[in-house]
Amino acid sequence: MSQQLGQFIVIEGLEGAGKSSAVSLVQSIITEHTGQTPVCTREPGGTPLAEKIRDLVKIADENDPLCDEAECLLFYAARTQLITNVIKPALAKGQWVLGDRHNLSSLAYQGGGRGLMPLVKAISDASLHGFKPDLTLYLDIDPSLGLQRASARGALDRIELQHIAFFERARATFLAFAAEDESIIVIDASQSIDKVHQDIRDKLTKRLLAVKRP
Ligand code: TMP
Repeated sequence: MSQQLGQFIVIEGLEGAGKSSAVSLVQSIITEHTGQTPVCTREPGGTPLAEKIRDLVKIADENDPLCDEAECLLFYAARTQLITNVIKPALAKGQWVLGDRHNLSSLAYQGGGRGLMPLVKAISDASLHGFKPDLTLYLDIDPSLGLQRASARGALDRIELQHIAFFERARATFLAFAAEDESIIVIDASQSIDKVHQDIRDKLTKRLLAVKRP
């Protein structure tokens, strides 16, 4: 069992990509590898204030529609709150942190989906100061298949109700960032759940074993 410093691992993916079951799997892989249960976070959310922001972005108010720029700022308000009060303190104590979404979601959904990339990059640089995950597992799925799976689970929220073209732009942005960044691993989430989980286990274990002890 290795005694290394904690790392920040993130799972990303469009709706219906299978993020929730991947989070449980990755949680157990990290626990097997480190002997510690990681601190689990989700975005938006993970602190009392950030959970209130989650409700604001998820629920549509037809009398006061959320404009794209305000949506973007809300995601960053939630994220900086979570980083400052939960993620950085946990990492400073040597704990591992497992995030259900992080900054790549804003780049993909608000930057790609909403067409606000210059704004997203500016806020990201100004608020995160280069803080990023050690490793991101991006579960890649065709949006039509993902949304089909998501709607089978129940009613769709404000973002899930966006036009398919929005998700296609978001997916293209996820893939474009993954192609440029070795810390982002792409998993084909259209495969059977067993195959997806095996891929996650293989790829994550390889990376975790490659991490040098301090
Ligand atoms: P989920 O955590 O259940 O996937 O819901 C979060 C929703 O918010 C999902 O539709 C993706 C969206 N989102 C953004 O648009 N930008 C972001 O930065 C984050 C974290 C999530």
